Order: sequence, then structure tokens, then C-alpha cells
Amino acid sequence: MPTIHFRLNGAETEIDADPDTPLLTALRGPLGLTGSHFGCGAGECGACIVIVNDHAINSCDTPLWSIADKDITTIEGLGSEQNPHALQRAFIAEQALQCGYCLSGILMSAAALLKRNSNPTSAEIKAALDRNLCRCGSHNRMVRAILRAAAEMRAP
Ligand code: FES
Repeated sequence: MPTIHFRLNGAETEIDADPDTPLLTALRGPLGLTGSHFGCGAGECGACIVIVNDHAINSCDTPLWSIADKDITTIEGLGSEQNPHALQRAFIAEQALQCGYCLSGILMSAAALLKRNSNPTSAEIKAALDRNLCRCGSHNRMVRAILRAAAEMRAP
């Protein structure tokens, strides 16, 4: 098995694996990070989204070979219970989560958006979440939460 090297949540990481292994499989298996969820497994639901070099990508259909030497951020790297990210605080404040299955993917899509656009409009937020399916119906609260987090992050 070849060794694939990358940075995972800021830590130098390597894994011996088939290079065609989906990133999500490696994350949830040998790397022990289960916050990214398996939904459709076909690049259509967004439950597995992580950030690769500042871009939100579906980890279920991203082979390990393609992330060699790149920076990967998962929900575990966004914030913690003790030190939540502004997005996590805002989602709680706006009660923008229900079952939570899609949530890590949505937070990572939102985090990638705020990296490139610190003051997004509601329309830009909706476009950024276009690949994230959620059947709970809290979309409007999610948009409010992301606007709230963006404002907090811009504040001096
Ligand atoms: Fe990856 Fe659905 S599990 S897009």
C-alpha cells in the first residue's frame, strides 16, 4: 500500500491505503473522525462535505490520491465543544439544527463560503448550500445563522 501524506485539521498526517479509497472512508475508518457523515455515497447529498484547500468538497467521491499534500479540514477541526466556531454558536443561537445528520456538511460548506466571502448575501449563502440536502426544513434558520456568524466574524 502506498503512503499518502496530507494535513488533517492542521496536523501532518499519513495513511497507508489504496489511493482510490474515498477520503470519507479513510476519515471515518482508520483516521477515526466520524463527524463527516455518509449519506448517499454518490456526491449528491453533501453530508460528507469537508474543506480541501479552502474548497468545500464531497469526501465520499474524492479519492485519497487527489488530496495528497493538501490541507483537509473536517468538522472536528472547525471547533470544539469547549471552543465552538462562530458558525456553531450561531446555529445554536438560531436553533438552526434538527436531526443533525446533514449538519457537519452544511457547516463545512458555510465555513468554506465565509473563507472566501466574509459578508455574503442570503442569495450567496443559499447558492453555497445548494449541494447540501436537508429534509428537516430549517433552511431559513440556517441562512440566518450563517449571516449571524459572518457578522460576528467581521466584528472588530
Ligand atoms: Fe457524499 Fe452524499 S455522502 S454527497
